[in-house]
Amino acid sequence: MTTVQTNHGHVREPQALLLHGFPFNAAMWREQIDFLDARGVPVLAPDLRGLGENRFDGEVATMDDMARDVAALLDEFAVDRAIICGLSMGCYVAFEFVRLFPSRVDALILCGPRAQGPDAAERRSREEQARRALVEGMDFALESISTKLLAEQTLTQKPDVVKRVREMVLSTDPRGAAAAQRGMAVRRDYADDLLHIEVPTLIIAGREDGVRTPEDGEFVRRRIRGAKQVVIEYAGHLMNMEQPEVFNRVLADFIRTIKHEVSQARP
Ligand code: MLT
Repeated sequence: MTTVQTNHGHVREPQALLLHGFPFNAAMWREQIDFLDARGVPVLAPDLRGLGENRFDGEVATMDDMARDVAALLDEFAVDRAIICGLSMGCYVAFEFVRLFPSRVDALILCGPRAQGPDAAERRSREEQARRALVEGMDFALESISTKLLAEQTLTQKPDVVKRVREMVLSTDPRGAAAAQRGMAVRRDYADDLLHIEVPTLIIAGREDGVRTPEDGEFVRRRIRGAKQVVIEYAGHLMNMEQPEVFNRVLADFIRTIKHEVSQARP
């Protein structure tokens, strides 16, 4: 999957833009693309630089580069503004996007976000992961599926989800994974940027997320005026794949609350 686009020609409908996490691709949003599409909400879901089918040969893919790619994609589809929904690395890209192009954001949905920048230990660890991806391929990254990524219920009762996650990790190009790791290693500390965000914001956390905890989400919530956080039970880091019905309901409720505002703001 590269860029998924659905379009109902409803120019006054809000447009959703879905930004995936690492080391995944736009296919992680399958249930949300179908759900929003069925409700007449146009969706764009790109593979970010170096991931999925978006091949990239450079050594570093920064969050800033990815945000500018996203802006170019919106231009290509003649979309002025969108509701930006990111998951984990997708949240870093969303933070960059709203900083660089605030007038193009109708609202933010931040799934498993973290605002703080990397310290020296994190930078070293990311460089090591980048090196391992290049030397060993992506197999080593599978370990985190059972240790950190997915909730207990997903691991024991949802083999299809586990299989999809494994397949996404293994299909990731190691060069792209290394470039994204190095990009995340040099990302900004977004904590102060959050104080300037002025759009409706929803944070979604997985109760059992071992990568980005609900406390990370709470840190973000406190810094964005008016933001709300919803914690999904029996979900880990990939909460949208693990509990798609609950996740989609939360998504639809939020979009409904901001829809009127968004329609009014459109020409
Ligand atoms: C992700 O899911 O995008 C990653 O956990 C982000 C990160 O490594 O910080």
